[in-house]
Amino acid sequence: MINQKKYSIIINVKKKNSKFGRGVRMEVNYNQAFEVLKKYNKDEFHLKHAQIVSGVMRYFAKEYDSEREEFWAVVGLLHDIDFELYPEEHCVKAVELLKENNFDDDIIHGVTCHAYGICEGIEAKPEHIMEKILFATDELTGLIGAVAIMRPSKTVADLELKSVKKKFKTPKFAAGCSRDTIRKGAERLGWELDELIQRTIDAMKSLVGTMEI
Ligand SMILES: [Fe+2]
Ligand SMILES: [Fe+2]
Repeated sequence: MINQKKYSIIINVKKKNSKFGRGVRMEVNYNQAFEVLKKYNKDEFHLKHAQIVSGVMRYFAKEYDSEREEFWAVVGLLHDIDFELYPEEHCVKAVELLKENNFDDDIIHGVTCHAYGICEGIEAKPEHIMEKILFATDELTGLIGAVAIMRPSKTVADLELKSVKKKFKTPKFAAGCSRDTIRKGAERLGWELDELIQRTIDAMKSLVGTMEI
């Protein structure tokens, strides 16, 4: 169980309505959310994926919702919180883990809806721009990372759209990254696929220098 006193710092419930219209908003803090994530995730690959998705979400938050950058980053960070321990119950078990750690409904909805139409038992749909961007970029960051690592530089720093597009069209390359989900994500955002890929590359480039990427 979490130390309530310690987490009262991050979970400072404000008595105002959520912008999502779901319950009360909470203050969230990236570093402390990361401590929670590490209770359930030990695999470096999973931790790195969480940090990349979080960084991508923060990048987009600056454009769409700059006052709530930390919130977007925390949802990105926690989006696969249950995957390492409960892959068969992905995003179902997450509800329990997040509640146990006192995360609010907006975070729970944001996290779980990235599996809408993909995992069993998920009713939460991506509705807010934050949720649509998470849905669209999650798998795509994996594909872009896989393309980058194949390059001589092994980084996204000099990666171009055409290299990712080529591998996008090669189903056997990084086959675990669902092209269907990425396409659906672009559609849901109303973005062309090329735009989604380019903007996600740019988001990942913004993380160069902060982590190995
Ligand atoms: Fe996931
Ligand atoms: Fe993910």
